[in-house]
Amino acid sequence: MHATVTDSANSYSSGPNTSVVTLTHLCKNFGSEIIYDDFNFDFKYGTFTSIFGPNGCGKSTLINMMAGLTPYDGGQILYNGRDISKATIGYVFQNYREALFPWWKAYENIEYPLKIKGMPAAERHQRLDELIEQFDIKFDLNRYPYEFSGGQQQLISILRALAPNPEIVFLDEPFSALDYEMTLFIRDKLQLIFTQSKIAMVLVSHDLEDAVFLAEQVLMLSKRPTRVVEIVPVDLPYPRNDRTLQLPEFLEAKRRSLEIFQQEVHK
Ligand SMILES: Nc1ncnc2c1ncn2[C@@H]1O[C@H](COP(=O)(O)OP(=O)(O)OP(=O)(O)O)[C@@H](O)[C@H]1O
Ligand SMILES: [Mg+2]
Repeated sequence: MHATVTDSANSYSSGPNTSVVTLTHLCKNFGSEIIYDDFNFDFKYGTFTSIFGPNGCGKSTLINMMAGLTPYDGGQILYNGRDISKATIGYVFQNYREALFPWWKAYENIEYPLKIKGMPAAERHQRLDELIEQFDIKFDLNRYPYEFSGGQQQLISILRALAPNPEIVFLDEPFSALDYEMTLFIRDKLQLIFTQSKIAMVLVSHDLEDAVFLAEQVLMLSKRPTRVVEIVPVDLPYPRNDRTLQLPEFLEAKRRSLEIFQQEVHK
C-alpha cells in the first residue's frame, strides 16, 4: 500500500520501504558517559518495531531523541529526509497519570495537539468523533482523567498521540503502570490502531512477551555504548491473540531475543 498523507503542516509519501525516520552516525553522551557512539538505524513506514535491551542502555533516550525531547551530540535524525520540525509524531508516556492534563476533560486532552496546530474547533470535534468510532470507545470522554481507570487513561493518552495522524508513534513502557487485564486491553487496541492505520510504531517494553507479541521486528540493543546486536523478525500475521503465544514462530522469536539479551547482560 502506498499512501500520501496531507495535513496543514506537511505532506509525505509512505510506502513499505520508505524510511520514516533515519538515524545516521548518532552520538549521545550524558557527561562523561557515552550512550551512543555512531548509532545507525532506519525505521520504515508501516512497521511495528519493539526495542529491547539491558537496563539503562538508552532505550528511552533513543526514542526521546527521535521525538525531539532530548538533544543529541552528533549525527543526524531525519524524517523522510526532512527536519523533525516538519514531521508529525505521537508519543505515549509511561506514566499516564503525569501525561494527561488533569484540569482538562478527556476529550480536551485528546484535542490538545490539534489545538496547538491551530485546527478549528469543528474539525477537532470531527477528528475526535472519528477516533471514538475507530476505537469503539464506549466511555464518556466528557469527564476528567481522574474519573477513568488506569487503562482508560492510557487509552486516552494513546488517542491523543494519534489525533494529529502521526507518521510514527513512540511508546515508552506503556503497560508498566497497568494491571494485566488492562495490558491485554491496550495490546489489542494497539494492534487495531496499527493494522488500521499502518503508521510506524516503536515500542519500548521491559516485558519480552509484550515486545515480541506486538512487533514485526525486535531491535535488540547492547550495553553502552549502545549498538544494534540483532534485529529479530516476528513473522506472524495480525491480529495476534492467545493462540499466537503457542506458535513456533512466536516462541522462536522470544527464545532468540532472550538469548541475545542474556549474552548482553552477562558481558
Ligand atoms: N537526563 C539525564 N541526565 C543524565 N543521565 C541520564 C539522563 N537520562 C538518562 N541518563 C542516563 O543514560 C543512560 C540511559 O538511560 P535511559 O533512560 O535511556 O535507559 P533505558 O534503556 O531506557 O533504561 P530502563 O531500562 O531503565 O528504562 C542511563 O545510564 C541513565 O542513567
Ligand atoms: Mg527507559
